[in-house]
Amino acid sequence: MNLHVVILAAGQGTRMRSSLPKVLHPVAGKPMLGHVIDCARALSPERIHVVIGHGAEQVQQQLDAADLNWVMQHEQLGTGHAVAQALPDTAGAEQILVLYGDVPLLQVATLEHLSRQAGAQALGLLTVNMQDPTGYGRIVRDAAERVMAIVEQKDASPEQLLINEGNTGIMALPGGRAAAWLGSLSNQNAQGEYYLTDVVALAVAEAVPVEVAQPTSEQEVMGANNRVQLAVLEREYQARQALRLMTAGVTLADPARVDVRGELVVGRDISVDINVVFEGKVSIADNVIIEANCVIRDSVIAAGSHIKAFSHLEQAQVGEDCEVGPYARLRPGTCLARGAKIGNFVETKKANIGEGSKVNHLSYIGDAEVGSNVNIGAGTITCNYDGVNKHKTRIEDAAFIGTNSALVAPVTVGARSTTAAGSTITMDVPADSLAVSRARQRNISGWKRPQKK
Ligand code: UD1
Ligand code: CA
Repeated sequence: MNLHVVILAAGQGTRMRSSLPKVLHPVAGKPMLGHVIDCARALSPERIHVVIGHGAEQVQQQLDAADLNWVMQHEQLGTGHAVAQALPDTAGAEQILVLYGDVPLLQVATLEHLSRQAGAQALGLLTVNMQDPTGYGRIVRDAAERVMAIVEQKDASPEQLLINEGNTGIMALPGGRAAAWLGSLSNQNAQGEYYLTDVVALAVAEAVPVEVAQPTSEQEVMGANNRVQLAVLEREYQARQALRLMTAGVTLADPARVDVRGELVVGRDISVDINVVFEGKVSIADNVIIEANCVIRDSVIAAGSHIKAFSHLEQAQVGEDCEVGPYARLRPGTCLARGAKIGNFVETKKANIGEGSKVNHLSYIGDAEVGSNVNIGAGTITCNYDGVNKHKTRIEDAAFIGTNSALVAPVTVGARSTTAAGSTITMDVPADSLAVSRARQRNISGWKRPQKK
């Protein structure tokens, strides 16, 4: 079936009280509209049209992609008018699926079901039975339970307001009828708008079958009109992620206190303590332990590694059986080989740390190649920046960097060599040597402290 998707995203979203267009407000770090577009993509439609108006430039700029057709709706005259703007670009469509840019939790399976049920000939509606349908259009059925019309809250009679079946707004239009139906909409109603929902009565009048599908839950079709609803969507999304993780074999100390903002791939027997945030693309292998309050962004953690509390990882690769933290900061380009240890208050950047090497305390290791079985003492700094350019530090296998060493790059410390504590190393150190660069200590015997006058 030739399927076109039209996503409505032109509304202002006044109640967000924001300079950011409503559909750009994020759920799990991604604009709501981005979620809807991804959901549409999963249906592999012929074309995706996005109707924009308020903040159009900003919306298009943030989400532009080759497979999207941006359609301008200059004045927001109603949902029917909005879909009509996309019609000139939907030639050949057998079905036009209408989605909302501010309903981000919609599931692909629900849409597939709706789309299949409606096919090319029927009108498909996604409806939901609600505890409190206030504000939603109501599905009006006849005595035989056949759908007759949708009536908006503001146009409904007192009896119609008692109907609990609400219109989600998600709709599948038969391509062959869409143009005629949308062309005959009127705006003679309580809001003076061209209602997309009026196509239901038109379908009924023409004896076009109306098919109804329902989502798996009410939350799936929730929209966000304000930041309170946005927060509800966020929690719902995170609850789903937590469920997915636990099902996959991850132990969560508290499923309500973990956040996934991106794509998290997990192995089995992983343990995640409270308040851990995963951002971007993160992959975690079997038996990894992540302690409380870590932020892990665009990183890979291999099997058996242990990330201790309050650590921050960004574009880092952690090999097998490593230990990181507590309070470690692995910045982009950090790569730890098997069994490496990065301890508290250590910052690394563009650093390869070899197998079994240790940087246990209070150090900065940047633009560095560190071999295997190296021990880097507390307070070691790679002085990688001369104010203009960055330079490399090389520390070869089994070297021992004494406490409080300053390694002024470019510089190499050879294999098995030692730098004495407190040294400033400005020249290469050959293999198997000791480098000392500090003033010799003098002791003055019998020296008297100054007295207060
Ligand atoms: C609409 C439905 C209502 C349904 C409800 C579900 C109509 C007439 N009513 O009502 O039956 O229960 O959604 O949330 O369709 N938009 C545009 N251009 C416009 C108008 C709207 O792009 O001219 C977009 C909005 O940005 C929004 C979506 O369409 O994403 C829905 O618009 P909104 O004004 O929220 O519709 P409701 O009045 O809530
Ligand atoms: Ca709405």
